[in-house]
Amino acid sequence: MKKVAVVYHSGFGHTEVQAQAVVKGARSVSGVTSNLFEVTQVTEKPEQLNAYDAIIFGAPTYMGSLSAPFKTFMDASSKVWFNQGWKDKLAAGFTNSGSMSGDKLNSLIQLSTFSAQHGMLWVSLGQMNESSEPGITNGHPEAINRIGSYLGAMAQSDNLPTNQTPPSGDLKTAELLGKRVAEAAIRWQ
Ligand SMILES: Cc1cc2nc3c(=O)[nH]c(=O)nc-3n(C[C@H](O)[C@H](O)[C@H](O)COP(=O)(O)O)c2cc1C
Repeated sequence: MKKVAVVYHSGFGHTEVQAQAVVKGARSVSGVTSNLFEVTQVTEKPEQLNAYDAIIFGAPTYMGSLSAPFKTFMDASSKVWFNQGWKDKLAAGFTNSGSMSGDKLNSLIQLSTFSAQHGMLWVSLGQMNESSEPGITNGHPEAINRIGSYLGAMAQSDNLPTNQTPPSGDLKTAELLGKRVAEAAIRWQ
């Protein structure tokens, strides 16, 4: 059985919904178990994650970079880094922000750099921009990868309750990231 951890921060619940979709996708793969950790649950003892084959990281983009509680976890993980405790595990990332861009590519770059520092192997999104409605892809709320990110999964949330935003396409995109990492974990020895 392969184990996939999803570690996330969410100030107002929107990235949490995205994280739940990532776990749903990972759990859809036979032979994989997946656990969801709100970041403060693992900040004090990041070595709890040593037992996992893959770790998927996610946080909202605040002021053009990862939110501060997530960065606190990143810094706390330096004690794992000393022993390279996550070396050769799979890694992937997701982020969510208010604007369509909002400079959130920077957050995925931060996550991939962070994973590289740990010697992890980064799994990209691997999804084209797709919609069930012919000709409507970019920006369509039901489209897969409507934002056109390949490094990881992006979502855009309006200033509305979490049962309204982020839209279904962004949640499906997050689910597909979880599924891809879980399938890669099965293949990765
Ligand atoms: C302190 C702060 C900074 C933010 N900075 C950005 C930003 O740089 N770009 C952006 O598009 N949205 C920004 N936003 C909007 C959030 O990314 C957006 O509301 C997101 O859905 C919040 O996710 P959460 O509900 O998981 O906290 C910011 C929000 C806050 C509270």
